[in-house]
This record gives sequence, structure tokens and C-alpha cells, in this order.
Amino acid sequence: MLRASGHAALVRPAQRASGRVLVPGDKSISHRYALLGAIADGPTRISGYSSGADCAATLACLQALGVSVQTPGNGTVAITGRGLHGLEQPRAPLDAANSGTTMRLVAGLLAAHPFRTVIGGDASLSRRPMRRVIEPLTRMGATIAAEDGRPPLTIDGGPLHGITYAPEVPSAQVKSSLLLAGLHATGTTVVIEGAPTRDHTERAFTAFGVTLSRVGLKMEVAGGQRPQGRALAVPGDISGAAFWCVLAAGLPGSRVEIDGVGLNPSRTAVLDVLRRAGAVVETVVNHEDAGEPIGRITISAGEPCSFTVSPTEVPMLIDELPALGALGTLLPEGCTMEVRGAAELRVKESDRISALARGFAAMGADVTEYADGFRIAARPLRGGQVDASGDHRLAMAFAVAACGASGPTAIDGAGVVDVSYPGFFQELERLTSAR
Ligand code: S3P
Repeated sequence: MLRASGHAALVRPAQRASGRVLVPGDKSISHRYALLGAIADGPTRISGYSSGADCAATLACLQALGVSVQTPGNGTVAITGRGLHGLEQPRAPLDAANSGTTMRLVAGLLAAHPFRTVIGGDASLSRRPMRRVIEPLTRMGATIAAEDGRPPLTIDGGPLHGITYAPEVPSAQVKSSLLLAGLHATGTTVVIEGAPTRDHTERAFTAFGVTLSRVGLKMEVAGGQRPQGRALAVPGDISGAAFWCVLAAGLPGSRVEIDGVGLNPSRTAVLDVLRRAGAVVETVVNHEDAGEPIGRITISAGEPCSFTVSPTEVPMLIDELPALGALGTLLPEGCTMEVRGAAELRVKESDRISALARGFAAMGADVTEYADGFRIAARPLRGGQVDASGDHRLAMAFAVAACGASGPTAIDGAGVVDVSYPGFFQELERLTSAR
């Protein structure tokens, strides 16, 4: 039903999806455990580390900063912490590749180290806005140069002092960058969010023995606390799981079980939307690791219906919107899906609003693009030729939508799924060819 070669994939229509699946380690959590391990005292051993290229970029940056990183296999990463303020000046510019999280979080660490570092990335990352971290890190005492507020960043780090800061956009990356910098600062760093975002950094700080106060949307960390290395297991990535959930929700007669997946409440909003869209979703938390709940999602199609994603929900499911767009295309004719308040989608790995609209439309969908979202009026897709636009989540969203089309879909640049989900197309084939 499917042919995937290095950079293009051909996805054929599928009847239903069924089976059990394990997803790669959570990307957000993997970055955080590696970064905290690097600045901790003593060794850190991470199992289930994300197999994606983004998290490999974080490890490569850490190695260039003098951190010993071993990857003995099976998704295990062993890091010898260099302690607070212990990173070394790299000999060459750091490469964050496609990873915004790498760039923004590593910038928080570099801001506190007394040397100059240049950090850049690929063409997509080079278009992404960095003022959101440059401005507060500069206020803390770093000097950061960037043309037009975009990568590459030239960071001259040094002694930092704590600040109180309310980011303009809800962003877990900005919050995390400031909290990591704040660990190295004198005094206290306070981040006041306008809306809640994923809280993995807060949980990871606690797991590494750092005291952090959280009262509502206010996070506070006292500088000078030394993280302590430890062993941790990364849960499966719910953002990768979301594509299987959508496939199951959108193809009648489907049932998919995802085991070992992270069920942190700051990431599960997508499941609430899927329930509103008619899917039958069950979750069971069976254990916790480092403060992160881990369990199973079981999802079957139910009776798909129209749904909207409200602006207040957006920060909690920003990465799942391409998948939810794919669900919009799989709904019965006459149903609609709509999301507003999601202008941030325009500054992700691609302009996800226009690239999604273009791709779904090329497959036969009726899509309306808004400055801050999109609307899909469901009608049968015929398939066609689409471009992943260098964006892993778009490649996966198009692949899921393609399963519901009447004809095949060629996805150009599909190899980009390796950013977060190597093996995605093999799993798609397995889940849609099981009887
Ligand atoms: C992430 C936060 C989100 C998300 C990204 C990962 C993180 O970005 O889109 O994929 O790990 O903190 P923003 O902080 O820019 O919203």
C-alpha cells in the first residue's frame, strides 16, 4: 500500500488501522534530560531517548561543548555531567539543524558561560524568530547578536542576574530557556506565563533535585542550585502518537493501542479534542518516571463529527494541529473542523497554515486559510502530489490524510519524518495492512 524511498513516499488508500504501536521517545523530554544531564553533577543515564534528528542535534551540540555523551545503543544515552558553569567553548559554530528547541534551550545555557559561541541551523530554522529568547537573555546579562532576530545567534555569555519576565507568546521553549539560564544566575528568575504550556522542564528540574516553585502560571527558580545526575526513562512521544490516534479516529472500524506513551496533562489536550470529534479514547496511566506519567492510549473510530479547536486550547496542542487538520479531511462529508488563535503555526518548521492548506487542497480538500488558523469542510479526497515543505509533522499529516483518499498520494520530501519519527512510514504500512 505504500512505498517510501529516501525522500519521497507514495501512500495508497487504506480501509482501516489496527494494532499496537510503540512511538519514539518524547522529543521535548529528551532534549531536557540531555541538557540537564550535561550541567548536572555526576552521571546521567537516559533510556528511551528520542531517535529523531532533533534530539541528536542537541547531543552533538553538547559534545561540541565538551560534554561526554555515549550512545551504547537501544536508545540509551549516557552523559557525564560537567556541573553548573562547566561547559567549554566549542571550536566551531554549533549546529542546531532543524531544531528550534535545541537552539532556544542551548541559548539559555550559553548565555551563562563566559565565552563566545555561534549557533545556527538549517534553512528552516534560520527563518524562525529568536527575539523571544534574545530579549530576556540579554536582560539577564548576556550579549546576543542576530540579524533581524533570526539565526545564527552569536552569544557572548557571562554572569547573569535573575529577572521577572512575562513572555509575549505562550512558549515552553522560552520558559525553559529562561529557567535554564536562571539556574546559573544570581538571585531568582521568575517566568510568568500568559497561558499554560508543556511543563516538562519544571518536572525535570524537580527530578534532577532542583527546587522550583510553581504557583499558577508563575515559575520561580533560585540560581546556583546544582542539578544532580540520575537515571531516567523517556516516555513515548504523544505528539507522534497523535498521528496514529487520528488515523484510528478517522478510518471507520479502526482500533489502535499505543503503549508506553507520555500522558503528562500538559500534553493530552489533543485527546480531549479527539473525543469531541467522536473518537472513543481510553487512557490508563500505569507508572511514572521522573515525575512524568506514562501509560497506554486505546483509540477507536466511534462516530466522527465536526469539531473546533478553541484559541485557549492552542498552546497545549500546538504540535498536534497538523494531525488534527488531517482528521478534518477524514471526517464524513458535510462535517467541518476549524482552528483559530494559532498564528504561531506560521513560525514553526514551516508556515504550517499555508503549507497544510496547500497540501490538503492538492489532495482535493476544501480548505480556508486564516491569518491565525484554518477551516476544513470535509469532502472525499482524491489524493495527489504534495510537498512536506521540510516539515516532519506535515509529512505525517499528509500521510494520514492520504489513507482516506480514493487514489494514491505522493509526498515529496517525506524523509523529513526522521526529525522526530524515524520508521514512521513502516509503522503506517504495518498498522494499515493488518487484518
Ligand atoms: C516545545 C515547545 C513548543 C513546540 C515544540 C517543542 C518544547 O514550541 O511547538 O515542538 O519542547 O518546549 P514553542 O515553545 O515555540 O511553543
